[in-house]
Amino acid sequence: GVDTDMFFTTRRDVQHLLKRRRKFSHKGNYGHALMLCGGYGKMGAAVLAARACLRSGVGLLTIQVPSAGYTVLQTAVPEAMTLTDPNRKHLSDLPEDIDKYDVIGMGPGIGTAPPTKTAIGQLLATSSHPLVIDADAINIIASSDRLKEQLPKNKVIFTPHPKEFERLVGKAKNDYERLQRLREFCQEHQCCVTLKGSHTAVGTPSGKVYFNTTGNSGMATGGTGDVLTGIITALVGQQYDLEEACILGVYVHGLAGDLALRTVGEIGMTASDLIDHLPKAFMCLQ
Ligand code: APR
Ligand code: MG
Repeated sequence: GVDTDMFFTTRRDVQHLLKRRRKFSHKGNYGHALMLCGGYGKMGAAVLAARACLRSGVGLLTIQVPSAGYTVLQTAVPEAMTLTDPNRKHLSDLPEDIDKYDVIGMGPGIGTAPPTKTAIGQLLATSSHPLVIDADAINIIASSDRLKEQLPKNKVIFTPHPKEFERLVGKAKNDYERLQRLREFCQEHQCCVTLKGSHTAVGTPSGKVYFNTTGNSGMATGGTGDVLTGIITALVGQQYDLEEACILGVYVHGLAGDLALRTVGEIGMTASDLIDHLPKAFMCLQ
């Protein structure tokens, strides 16, 4: 029944999920993530997602941005390897050697230009990677029934805000119907969806829903969603199940916000403050 398939995530739940790092491990043990983010005037989305990914334990990060973003990324995120798209302003092509990555995170800042739609379609049709799909990558898929049908099963996490969710699954009359849509969509496509909000709901392929219990209204500011995309991408790269990556990712994202609250408060909080507090947030769970 509906009631027995809904849960609240507690601190203890995520403490049990968190993987320990082994003494004799090396960066190859923590995954190589690829992110496809950024666009002309929206390179900040790529910077935020990349920095959050690196603060969430990933072994290696390669990010591909439109060529206008090359210097921005190399300067703002020295830990990431930067590839450039042949197009100056938007995503239009996939990197060579794409098979070598453990996870692909995409969407923040990419826009919906026709070549970007083609590239996303090509990725869905050809890749066998786990995919973390956010922002305009969601909008692109939402606008095409063909792309929705092509979604690989048990490989995809969507991280929509309520508007993106509505584009993806259709309008709901009320919260109850919205949750029904969430469960049905996850079951039909065998994917996970984190429906973002003040209590982000994680839907899973088996039709369960997990409500997050961390976070605050200081996080209602541009760029915090891009941070979540980076976090979840890093966790999938570290071999967390899709479901675990979503539950742990949204919890630690909100916890970083709650820790930031103590020093910067709600009004002055920015997405970068969340990234700065991610290390502490992970330490709280160890
Ligand atoms: N309490 C707790 N968490 C909140 C609250 C709140 N009151 N308000 C927002 N958040 C969290 C959400 O749960 C989510 O994780 O902040 C994040 C906001 O994510 P988005 O809505 O995706 O916003 P963001 O992406 O940062 O905004 C810039 O606008 O349409 C978009 O996605 C597009 O990336 C682009 C962007
Ligand atoms: Mg967003």
